[in-house]
Amino acid sequence: MNLVSATPASIDRAAALLRDGAVVAFPTETVYGLGANALDAVAVARIFEIKARPTFDPLIVHVIDDAMLGRVAAEVPDLARALMARFWPGPLTLVLRKAPEVPELVTSGLPTVAVRMPAHPLARALIERAGVPLAAPSANPFGYLSPTRAEHVAHMLGERVDLILDGGATEYGVESTIVLLEPVPALLRHGAIPVEEIEAVAGPLARELPDEAKPLAPGRLPQHYAPRTPIRLTEPSEVPIAERADAGLLAFRAPAPGYRATRVLSERGDLREAAANLFRHLHELDAIGVTRIDAQPVPLEGVGIAIMDRLRRATHA
Ligand code: TXA
Ligand code: MG
Repeated sequence: MNLVSATPASIDRAAALLRDGAVVAFPTETVYGLGANALDAVAVARIFEIKARPTFDPLIVHVIDDAMLGRVAAEVPDLARALMARFWPGPLTLVLRKAPEVPELVTSGLPTVAVRMPAHPLARALIERAGVPLAAPSANPFGYLSPTRAEHVAHMLGERVDLILDGGATEYGVESTIVLLEPVPALLRHGAIPVEEIEAVAGPLARELPDEAKPLAPGRLPQHYAPRTPIRLTEPSEVPIAERADAGLLAFRAPAPGYRATRVLSERGDLREAAANLFRHLHELDAIGVTRIDAQPVPLEGVGIAIMDRLRRATHA
């Protein structure tokens, strides 16, 4: 069994495995990551293999301090420093000019590298003990729902991963917000930190880039983060009762009658709680065997924007 609870001993074992080129799943404050030594191209190649991830999709590199950042990024502009001072450690990923030591596979041949400094104590302990930056995408098969619990990883990737560190449920439940700094500051992915908080530090962020500056980024593909069951965005009140019996409902605050299974994101209407529950509820509804999932829209504010971004991509047939 490759699923172990995170203890000082299992973290040491995981760190030793990582130094040897293994692939280890670990919790971060956003979702579980599938990590390998970012400076070891062969180890990184295994991540792509395990996830069946296309190699045009670059990875996020996780660091714990400035020294490690210096190994992966060639240059840190002032605006990046200001964002780091405010949001690191935490769920903000910055796209910086890459250092030569970072393998091309990590960045899909781009001249830039995406970097973040996670806040989760287990992620931090693991990186510190491994002593190397960790390249880590979300620990799910490409295009599928992200994992917010160790069991999700075990269920989706199983024994293909060398070790899965169980650190319980993740706090945010949606991935980091991604910001590009050059040629113009731009938002590449809505995520755990609402964009308005970032703009309060960085000023307005571009939402659309000129084509030649556009990185290939599947988190931006119209279809991503999807369950296997067909899913659509709809107010349950617009769904005839007769069409509910075989379907599942992902509700925002309250259930609606007649559905075969229902999961409520947040009874209090708290968007952060809703984000933390999003993927877990979708994993559960996907496993029940309903013929369709009706997802109720959530308010487009704060982290609700990242939730709606994930739901729109999940529902895009
Ligand atoms: O919260 C998170 O960010 C999680 C945890 C594990 O840290 N990781 C995560 O990784 O969401 P992943 O692989 O699912 O998302 C990586 C995305 C790519 O799809 C792309 O959108 C963007 O990061 N990316 C990576 N490198 C980039 C680069 N050089 N330029 C632009 N975008 C990049
Ligand atoms: Mg992902």
